[in-house]
Amino acid sequence: MFATMGALGLAPTAQAAGREQPFRALSASDFTLTGRAAAKVVVIGGGIAGLAAAYELGKAGYDCTVLEARDRTGGRNLTVRGGDTTVDLDGHRQTARFADGHYMNAGPARIAQWMVTLDYCRELGVPIEVFTNVNADAYLYNESTGMDAPVRHRTAKADVHGHVAELLAKATDRGALDGELTAADRERLVEFLADWGELGDKLTYQGGERRGYTTVPAAAGTPGVLLGDVPTASEVFADGVGRYFSFEFGFDQAMLMFQPVGGMDRIPQALTRAVGAHRVRTGAVVSKITDKAGGVSVTYTQGGRTKVVEADYAIAALPPNILAKVPHNLGSGVQSALESIAPSSAAKIGLEYRSRWWELDHRIYGGITETDLDVTHIWHPSYGFHGERGVLIGYYNYGADADAYAALTPRQREQRAVAAGVKIYGEKYRTELVSSFSHHWRQTPHLEAAWHSTPGGPDAPRYKPLNEPTGRVHFAGDWLSYTDAWQHGAFTSARRAVTALHARVLSS
Ligand code: PHE
Repeated sequence: MFATMGALGLAPTAQAAGREQPFRALSASDFTLTGRAAAKVVVIGGGIAGLAAAYELGKAGYDCTVLEARDRTGGRNLTVRGGDTTVDLDGHRQTARFADGHYMNAGPARIAQWMVTLDYCRELGVPIEVFTNVNADAYLYNESTGMDAPVRHRTAKADVHGHVAELLAKATDRGALDGELTAADRERLVEFLADWGELGDKLTYQGGERRGYTTVPAAAGTPGVLLGDVPTASEVFADGVGRYFSFEFGFDQAMLMFQPVGGMDRIPQALTRAVGAHRVRTGAVVSKITDKAGGVSVTYTQGGRTKVVEADYAIAALPPNILAKVPHNLGSGVQSALESIAPSSAAKIGLEYRSRWWELDHRIYGGITETDLDVTHIWHPSYGFHGERGVLIGYYNYGADADAYAALTPRQREQRAVAAGVKIYGEKYRTELVSSFSHHWRQTPHLEAAWHSTPGGPDAPRYKPLNEPTGRVHFAGDWLSYTDAWQHGAFTSARRAVTALHARVLSS
């Protein structure tokens, strides 16, 4: 009745609540009076999708075993702290030297408010704090356009908005929009533009307080000194700084954003605890998946020994590029679908500094400096403000830039990243450095991708054998969602697989 009322618009719909696909958590009571019981499920992959699947199934009493190839759960949700060691596929071995309490999120690092990831943080008791995705005081720097110095985000934004507003106001005044707009519309548009672009006399942009100051306003006698040298429209467009402002309009990148306190891996840690550590086998590398008439058997090696898990169902929650390399009997439709999905590169380097010179000297507290250098994004930490040290992300880059750094030794990566940063921040970027740690996803064992590109999107017909179970094997992962490269995609895909598996068990 409630659903019908919803359809008639008489009850709040899922959409109104912000959730297009309502998810009903499973419960042991679902089996009451059905004569059925929870089944045994083997979950392949202990990343967010696999852990979430085991966690949700566990609520209804399913007996889950999670097989994780790496030595810790979380998959691409990886937080690196002092003492952590990695060896990449090229044999580069690194041990992080970060001081206690300092970390880098090598994978996911920001969560939007609409993402179900936050619901899991709430449910699992993972405390969160604001992640500063945009900061008016961070820098923009384009070397290729000939900028001789970085510009503050706020300054560039004031100039871009100001000049665009002035041009549009002029065009409106000269009648260029008379065919589009009534006289009243034009008046309202110009009024809006004057405010939006901080236009002065005769609707011209002459700069103003939004650009910033060389001496900030303070006590009586100190009215402040505005930043001089307002660039012309032509100069502002030539710098190409306008390209960075649409980022914060993105549905998935708009502030406020959040991060777990203490590191993103607080999420897989909490999930692993909730699933039960005894159900999770790490270092378990799957070598064969066999769908049989009445069950699934999964062969894996762990510590040099080959073992088999027999279960009623399986959830394959490992990356498609890895799954494609595992022998199985799920058919050529599954295999060709997996092979059509392309792995992408991305990388980060954490630069640990003995002082928080970006706060002290530059007055930048969190947020991102955007560049057209091969480091792409430089992230200031959103935790530990005013502390003694800090870890900055010296590059967060993708594709060819990430591959170019991957080809270097960790020491060379550090040198190249530091040389880029010095151009923006000056010598302290080099002299205050104490340690670094770089992570490249395409070169990471058992993952070999930062994210994936799924031609045609996850609902393309080719992916039907992955979106619907094949035999007794269900599939889950961010790569089977419309939000790949986000934990939200992994969580919602896991929920979808769990819902289908449970419905099947209830009706079998
Ligand atoms: N979620 C990742 C990030 O925020 C990767 C990504 C970037 C995904 C941009 C979509 C858009 O950096």
